[in-house]
Amino acid sequence: MIHTANRRKFLETIGIGSAGLLLPDFAFSQTSASLVNELKVPELLTGSSRNGRLHYALTAQTGVSNFLPGLSTPSIGINGRFLGPTLRFKNGDDVAMHVQNSLGEETTLHWHGLHVPAKADGGPALIIANGSSWNPEFKIMQPAGTFWYHSHRLNNTGQQVYRGLAGLIIIDDDESSQLGLPSDYGVDDIPLIVQDRRFNTDGSFRYVGMGMDTMTGLFGDTILVNGTVSPVFTPTTSKVRFRLLNGSNARTYNFAFDDGRKFQLIGGDGSLLQQAAELQSLELAPAERAEIVVDFSDGSPVNLVSLPMASNSEFAPQGMMRNMHPMNTEAFHILSLQPQSNLETSESLARNLASIRRMQESEASRSRQFTLSMPMGMGGGGRGGRGRGMMGGEFLINGKAMDINIIDEQISVGSTEIWEITNDSMMMHPFHIHHGQFQVLDRDGKPPKPQEMGFKDTVKVGPGQTVRFIMKFENFSDAETAYMYHCHILEHEDNGMMGQFVVV
Ligand code: C2O
Ligand code: CU
Ligand code: CU
Repeated sequence: MIHTANRRKFLETIGIGSAGLLLPDFAFSQTSASLVNELKVPELLTGSSRNGRLHYALTAQTGVSNFLPGLSTPSIGINGRFLGPTLRFKNGDDVAMHVQNSLGEETTLHWHGLHVPAKADGGPALIIANGSSWNPEFKIMQPAGTFWYHSHRLNNTGQQVYRGLAGLIIIDDDESSQLGLPSDYGVDDIPLIVQDRRFNTDGSFRYVGMGMDTMTGLFGDTILVNGTVSPVFTPTTSKVRFRLLNGSNARTYNFAFDDGRKFQLIGGDGSLLQQAAELQSLELAPAERAEIVVDFSDGSPVNLVSLPMASNSEFAPQGMMRNMHPMNTEAFHILSLQPQSNLETSESLARNLASIRRMQESEASRSRQFTLSMPMGMGGGGRGGRGRGMMGGEFLINGKAMDINIIDEQISVGSTEIWEITNDSMMMHPFHIHHGQFQVLDRDGKPPKPQEMGFKDTVKVGPGQTVRFIMKFENFSDAETAYMYHCHILEHEDNGMMGQFVVV
């Protein structure tokens, strides 16, 4: 049941709506009536213990998925046909990953957000040839949070992730397990890997990755949640924790509930927050995560939706890009929630979640500047080689396109730095760094909003904006193996908006 009046009022309050913006304007054909497939929940892998280590076996493989009625879609997955299992770790665990590549092509597997040695990070240089395996070992050295893993193959990450090479990672710690948060995986602790896809009429994925698909990044017209089209989930408890991962190549979502209900944000990319923040909507760019707790105690059905980005959003495209593509201007359904009739009562939310010490600017020994740009030479991009988008545009950081043979930055192990990211283009770029987690200092001089107060590894930098973050580079040093920093719009990354650093 849809509460139309409530929705209208909500859309108006949130500043995107006129009375005309009702259900029929939801761009996707997924009305709540057609949200009919039970939400798939990825299998949980907790590892098998041998010689003091937890071992995880992952096989990247090809398969055929059935997303659309009557059609099959060639896809890839890990231990399955599409996406991979959720890996669960605890802070302090020693883990051994066993990654077998049976894809028929090269790949790499990157643990996004994990603080691990460069050789274990799975960046583009750590190629796993077809038919071979990669067995990195590392210790979990970070607080509870929601992370993910995905292909990081050079110039080909977008396509491999699109076809399915991604999965979720959950880290717990002693503190987080004492909080009484919903944490029964698949029952009241639910991963939501949100992705948009486009299909050919024969059911195959339509990944073009040229022209507009490169410039804006690839947008799809069908939402998959954990690989489920038109998903429905049945809460059995009065509170449910959702671990939202924007696993899309390019699309930013503006998550909200269509009856306007508020929810509690308890965690960001790389940690829980100090205290929950009550929100009515939340924008997540590609690779950003959020843990939210939603109250279903009134028993009413509701839809998780994505609202259009407000036209005055600081992350909206500017100038000529404003009209080029309907980027994030659409509203659509994500997930239908239909609580069962006798809900088990959940614990109330703890007041204090994680203890996070805010890092001080004075702790930094140096700062570095990075400028993201997309010069759009329409004349065919004369320089040749990498960094050349198909419309002749280029995707650059500090005027350079990614070169696997060049280390762009050297960082001393143990040091704390401030990175200042300036966006000199007409669209938002989610900037991501490997090696660890940072704290946002400010965006155009203004302190971060509550949703950016935890540890993060990916941050939205709107057109014309400058974001500063502070980060400690520690524990691992390796002069040979680089970590990456890049835009997490995968078509931008694949076309050059990436650089490399070593920690020595
Ligand atoms: Cu999510 Cu460099 O990766
Ligand atoms: Cu990463
Ligand atoms: Cu970008």
